[in-house]
Amino acid sequence: MRLQKYMAHSGAASRRKSEEFISEGRVKVNNKVITEPGYKVDPDKDRVYLDGRRLKIIKKHTYIALNKPMGVVSTASDEKGRKTVVDMIETDERLYPIGRLDIDTTGLILLTDDGEITNKLTHPRHEIKKTYIATVEGTPDKRALDSLRKGIKVGNEKFKGADVKILKSFENDSIIRTTISEGKNHQVKLMYEKINHPVKKLKRISIGEIELGDLEIGNYRYLNEDEIKYLKSIK
Ligand code: URA
Repeated sequence: MRLQKYMAHSGAASRRKSEEFISEGRVKVNNKVITEPGYKVDPDKDRVYLDGRRLKIIKKHTYIALNKPMGVVSTASDEKGRKTVVDMIETDERLYPIGRLDIDTTGLILLTDDGEITNKLTHPRHEIKKTYIATVEGTPDKRALDSLRKGIKVGNEKFKGADVKILKSFENDSIIRTTISEGKNHQVKLMYEKINHPVKKLKRISIGEIELGDLEIGNYRYLNEDEIKYLKSIK
C-alpha cells in the first residue's frame, strides 16, 4: 500500500495532505524518514509515524446484500471455475459470503470481510431466523405442515420447528413462506421432500432483520447503518 493511502486510512489527513507531510519530512516508516510519497508500506509489518505519533489503519468493514441468481455458487472461489457470489461484487475488498445458498437457490446472501460477524451469524447458538419463499409440488395438508411446525427428523438430522404459511395454492404447486432458525445443508428442500412435496424453486427473502426487499436479481447493495448496527448487536 502506498504511504499516503496508509496515512489517509489511519485518519491522519487526506491523501493529498499526507503527500505534503511526506515531502516535508514529517513522516517516518520504521524509524526512517521517508520523503517519497509513493513509498510502499506493508500495513501488517511496517510502523508509520507522523511527527513522531504512530498511525494505525482504521479498518472499516464492508457489508453487502446480494440477490443471488441461479447458477452462481455461494463460495469465495470455485474449483470448477463456476461464477461465485464474490465475482458479482465490484470491489477491491476480499469479501466472502456469510453462510451458503444452494446453486439453484436465489435471493438474499450477505457478503463481508468481517470475520467476527460471520462467526456470529453462522453459529447455531444464535438461531438467526431465515425466511424463504418455497414453491413446492402440490399443496401440503395441515397434518404435513404441522409436522414441519413441530420439527421433523430426516435421516439422522432433527430439524427444529419451522414457521410455515401457504401464501398461494395452484393446481400443481403452492408457494409457502418458510422460516427456519437453523442453517443446515439443504434444510428447506429436505423438509419438504420428507413430507412428499419437493421444492421446485427456492428464494431467501430475509436473514434476521435484513430483508431482500426489492433488490433485483443479480444486484447488490451496501447495508445501511441500522442494518450494520443490528448485525453487531447479535450477542
Ligand atoms: N435450504 C435449502 O434447501 N437450500 C438452500 O439454499 C437454503 C436453505
